[in-house]
Amino acid sequence: MKFELSEEHLSVQKAARDFAQDILKPGVIERDNHQKFPAEEIKQLGQLGFLGMMVDPKYGGGGMDTISYVLAMEEISKVDASCSVVMSVNNSLVCWGLESFGTEEQKKKYLIPLAKGEIIGAFCLSEPEAGSDATSQRTTAIDKGDYYLLNGTKNWITNGGSASVYLVMAQTHPEKGHKGINCLIVEKGMPGFVVGKKEDKMGIRGSDTHSLMFTDVKVPKKNRIGEDGFGFKFAMKTLAGGRIGIASQALGIASGAYELALAYSKERKAFGKEISQHQAIQFKLADMATEIEAARLLCLKAAWMKDQHLDYGTASAMAKVFSSRVAMETTVEAVQIHGGYGYVKEYHVERLMRDAKITQIYEGTTEVQKIVISRALLS
Ligand code: CAA
Repeated sequence: MKFELSEEHLSVQKAARDFAQDILKPGVIERDNHQKFPAEEIKQLGQLGFLGMMVDPKYGGGGMDTISYVLAMEEISKVDASCSVVMSVNNSLVCWGLESFGTEEQKKKYLIPLAKGEIIGAFCLSEPEAGSDATSQRTTAIDKGDYYLLNGTKNWITNGGSASVYLVMAQTHPEKGHKGINCLIVEKGMPGFVVGKKEDKMGIRGSDTHSLMFTDVKVPKKNRIGEDGFGFKFAMKTLAGGRIGIASQALGIASGAYELALAYSKERKAFGKEISQHQAIQFKLADMATEIEAARLLCLKAAWMKDQHLDYGTASAMAKVFSSRVAMETTVEAVQIHGGYGYVKEYHVERLMRDAKITQIYEGTTEVQKIVISRALLS
């Protein structure tokens, strides 16, 4: 067992850190205040290769491993989780799904521009009445011969307004339950496809979350991913990797808040000395650092297992459930260490605290992760 990062890992980590500190940090408070999507920043992330990190270079990707992805996600999320969720969805859910299960034609047409970051993608599973209970898809894709007729509504879709390509889960054979679900590649602009209202969220306010409406959208059959009825398995397999991305996002939110709290504790004086010299603060810092390190190890282990082609579903659920809890607890403590300053926007930690909460909700709630873990334990 080797706990050392390679030169290549360190250079990816540094590139992500520099980008986050130099490019993302200056405008992050304003984007959060005005719910402004980081369009220019995402374009630059794409040019640096962070939107298709693990994709084979022959499809326009960076050919990197999942460890590199975790390291980059942590650095970007320390500063701007609204940006890192775009990165996570594009890398893990859209690019990975297409590369692993798409046809050569689908890869050439969609994966290459997605991996290069020329366009971004969205993953559309959640519905008004199908969140955690993802098998209960009400959106329908009726088989009409050489196309599917798509009808229904999707909710809470990350990149909903800004994506060009949407992977949409829909029910084709209701009598078969989850085995009747298909995943279709839908393009923005297809007649009958309307992007609905943008959500006004508590956190990750710079990200672009929408409902989507499909009314008699004709989706060519060649846009189906995998065999007829593969859609639910596609979603589950893809989400297992996506959870490594969100776990790393949670890790980054936690470590970003910790670093701010540590620096602040060395500057702020109270009762005649820096607050870092008070044991009440030292114990908080020690707990934060310990939990963050444990979360990091879980994220890296899940990433390593994925790179080794081992079954990583349980490991990714464990990484997500733990890292997202650490993100919540650490950000609350970081605000506490900052006192009144922590409660105002200028000091960043209140935003990180708001951003942390979503990591316990999307790509499977904490409760869903515990279902995944306990089923593996009991099987
Ligand atoms: N890989 C492959 N197949 C899998 C799988 C996996 N990781 N997990 C489940 N399956 C298969 C099962 O083997 C089963 O297949 P068979 O019937 O052939 O045996 C089938 O899928 C159904 O599985 P379950 O019986 O376990 O299904 P369930 O109804 O009990 O639900 C669940 C399980 C874990 C709760 C699942 O529904 C789930 O993960 N729900 C959460 C959905 C989710 O994460 N949504 C997030 C939306 S995307 C998002 O948030 C993106 C974003 O914006 C950031």
